[in-house]
Amino acid sequence: MPSKIIDDLLTRGTFVSGEKIARKVGVSRTAVFKRIRGLRSDGYSIESVRGKGYRLLPRLDGLLPLEIRMKAKSTTFGREVTTLESVDSTQNYGRKLADAGALEGTIIVALEQTAGKGRMSRAWSSPKGGLWFTLLLRPSAPMGELYKLTLLFGVSVARALESYGLRPCLKWPNDVLVNGKKICGILLETSGEPDRVEYVLVGIGLNVNFSSRDLPDDIRSSSTSVYDALNRRVDRADLLCRILEDSERLYLSAAKGGFQRVLNAWRLMSCTIGRAVTVQSFGASISGRAVDIDDDGSLIVETKEGRKKVYSGDVLLS
Ligand code: BTN
Repeated sequence: MPSKIIDDLLTRGTFVSGEKIARKVGVSRTAVFKRIRGLRSDGYSIESVRGKGYRLLPRLDGLLPLEIRMKAKSTTFGREVTTLESVDSTQNYGRKLADAGALEGTIIVALEQTAGKGRMSRAWSSPKGGLWFTLLLRPSAPMGELYKLTLLFGVSVARALESYGLRPCLKWPNDVLVNGKKICGILLETSGEPDRVEYVLVGIGLNVNFSSRDLPDDIRSSSTSVYDALNRRVDRADLLCRILEDSERLYLSAAKGGFQRVLNAWRLMSCTIGRAVTVQSFGASISGRAVDIDDDGSLIVETKEGRKKVYSGDVLLS
């Protein structure tokens, strides 16, 4: 516990003296010094200036927990951060933490994934340089409502990308596109009963600081990255915090007043509505024009046989 309080004092980003930390936490100055030394050996840059004290220095593109917490303005989302050098999937890791009782808002970030999971049991290529993370939620909504969370996170990712000058759009149900190519995918995994959700793992995979040329052949031409689109790298912790802040706001507003705000925001950024589409779902295929999303988040497709609602599947835009 004392080390957590020491960490919290350091995440304010201003100088704090060893004496003040020791007094506030109720430990000796030697204990403070040992913690600072431990953090430094974990890779944190902590400046120390005689007469002023210690200050945590944010590194460009640093994704260590304290660096994320120092930048995050969200209250719940990102309140506990685990950063892993390499993991099979942040979803698997998140499930273990969730089963052990981790709090809503906990995030797991990986610098690379060796067995990243995509929708429909597909593999998700996750090289170094991407933003691969899972957010744990414990919503009080029934299972049927959760579906719309994919749309909510799509909106927040798209808005975050927009703040870097990109022009993203949303492909139903879970893709964010830039220049017609996929830049981000969202995977929702749940645990619980139909009427009692225990937790939701929101997995977000965003191609950031690598070129799509580094992706496997089969997805290279249909994928893009922030680096491809902007021709420069961006600070992934900043990008992550923008997503966390916006999605926390939308999540709280949906919990209070329903998903209308999310659905309207999604419609505004959609590149699905109004387009001729083919939806492949469970071996069947539906073709027509996507006319809207319904209040339950499903896609409404105008086909020759009339309007049909689609709840899952892969959309091909033509
Ligand atoms: C999709 O198929 O479009 C969804 C891809 C989701 C990938 C993310 S990366 C972080 C999290 N961990 C995983 O193994 N998958 C999700």
